[in-house]
Amino acid sequence: MASPTSTSPSLITVAITVDGEAREVEVEPRTTLLDALRERLGENAPKKGCDHGQCGSCTVLLDGRRHLTCLTLAVQHDGADVVTAAGLGRLADGGDADPDGLHPVQRAFVDRDGLQCGYCTPGQVCSAVGALDEIAAGHPSHVTEDLEGEVEASEVEVRERLSGNICRCGAYPNIIDAVRQAAGSSPPDRVAAALAATEQRVGPGAAAGPGSDTKEQSS
Ligand code: FES
Ligand code: FES
Repeated sequence: MASPTSTSPSLITVAITVDGEAREVEVEPRTTLLDALRERLGENAPKKGCDHGQCGSCTVLLDGRRHLTCLTLAVQHDGADVVTAAGLGRLADGGDADPDGLHPVQRAFVDRDGLQCGYCTPGQVCSAVGALDEIAAGHPSHVTEDLEGEVEASEVEVRERLSGNICRCGAYPNIIDAVRQAAGSSPPDRVAAALAATEQRVGPGAAAGPGSDTKEQSS
């Protein structure tokens, strides 16, 4: 009788730094970096959305650049430095994290209400940090008109650069505003603009609450 043979592929040890901490993990050669982070190392900030490179929810900063972790194998990144959304604030350049430990991009997402369910948010903020670094370095995108001059974090530029990050809740306007705020722009306050538009349509004070509505209707 033939002796049994193992069908499982051999495990490979990969050493990576995750959010500033040196970690080691044994993985099969086919294990993606996303699965190594989430399933083997318990790092659940990067999210598994599509697992096919289509949604951006698994984005981290890999050796300083934004990267989709579902599209790359862990064994390709021995010695790499990974920063997830969970470590962004702590590792903010030049100690830029605010008192709540948030990276400036994360703070802008809070200020601008750039999220609803939050599932896409860790990928959005990592992608935004990478995109702003690319803009600061002068890397042009598909929509950059002046390929020689400075690149600005305009609305169209930010929309293009974050187009790989899908938000199922459709929080895009506020996400774009948050990224532009983090870049130092002053996008309009959409809530104030909506209130002003309502007041213009139905009269002063009508946007303040249901009481004023009743008064308007009964007069
Ligand atoms: S899970 Fe990686 S792109 Fe969707
Ligand atoms: S906030 Fe829900 S998917 Fe983006």
